[in-house]
Amino acid sequence: MATLIAVLAGDGIGPEIMREAVRALEAVAELGGHKFAFTEALIGGAAIDATGDSLPDDTARLCADADAVLLGAVGGPKWSDPNASIRPEQGLLSLRSAMGVYANLRPVKTHPALYASSPLKPGLLQGVDILVVRELTGGIYFGERQRDENSAMDVCRYERSEIERVVRMAAEFARQRRGKITSVDKANVLDTSRLWRSITEEIIGQEFNDVALEHLLVDAATMHLLSRPADFDVIVTENMFGDILTDEASMLCGSLGMLPSASLNQARRGLFEPIHGSAPDIAGRGIANPCGMILSAALLLRYGLGLQEESDRLERAVFDALQAGYRTADLTPVGQRSVSTADMGEAILKRFKDAA
Ligand code: IPM
Ligand code: MN
Repeated sequence: MATLIAVLAGDGIGPEIMREAVRALEAVAELGGHKFAFTEALIGGAAIDATGDSLPDDTARLCADADAVLLGAVGGPKWSDPNASIRPEQGLLSLRSAMGVYANLRPVKTHPALYASSPLKPGLLQGVDILVVRELTGGIYFGERQRDENSAMDVCRYERSEIERVVRMAAEFARQRRGKITSVDKANVLDTSRLWRSITEEIIGQEFNDVALEHLLVDAATMHLLSRPADFDVIVTENMFGDILTDEASMLCGSLGMLPSASLNQARRGLFEPIHGSAPDIAGRGIANPCGMILSAALLLRYGLGLQEESDRLERAVFDALQAGYRTADLTPVGQRSVSTADMGEAILKRFKDAA
């Protein structure tokens, strides 16, 4: 039976970068003798336009049945009216919640080919290999909210079980890596963070005494991420802190366009998407960086389908293409030549096939 991959391109640059990722996966299937069936569905603004709903039932059903879900990006100015009752981002949040993908893995690994694209000094970038594990289905993103003309509120709430499971998953990854975990919170101010910190202490102390635990306050963490990035191994943190810290961390790798993510549930079934948004300012111009999207496809192979070797090979092809000098505009200094989304995808595909 074919492996069913749900393909949700979404809005903005989503369809442009998704095309390159699907081509890469088709090559993986062809060369490895796998059968992948791709089924496209609507999400986000595109879904609102077509159906009035940011996560139509058909899409939710497809994602529930699929072996893995690949997603581009959602959102854009067309749907950003602050008074709109329905927003593209709701579709994505509902999907994450419906799939129960509570652990969002965001690997941040620097590569010498892109040192010059980072605002940080090369000496700081050497050996940076971080796995950020962002809690994805709780906290302020999913709390009760209210709004009237002159006041608004968003509740941040965490249950013990939500903290335990994501910390456990993060610690299991730390065990397979360098055995270190940094928990990021704001325990000097927030009760949710004090709960987070004490449960983290408990879980690591009782179940993972081979893992070293460090706590950082989130404001300090933003600074340490720039002053000593190579010191971090696994970072585990709540939903919004993880969102913010990983946009910051992406600059270690040269561009927001470089970072992929894998969101896993208890059954380790997953949703795979780049960490960046739909970039409406450059959408439709064929200049977006497809690397974060293609690297998300590589994570799909690894965590979604257990195809470790294929995953490694696809990741290597991305960095081989970068090493050979291929750069999209986001990675190129002003005035220098860059390649299109399609050319970048093609350069990666060629290297993937040549290595087979
Ligand atoms: C991300 C994005 C989303 C988030 C938005 C689009 C809802 O910024 O995946 O990081 O905040 O989680
Ligand atoms: Mn984000």
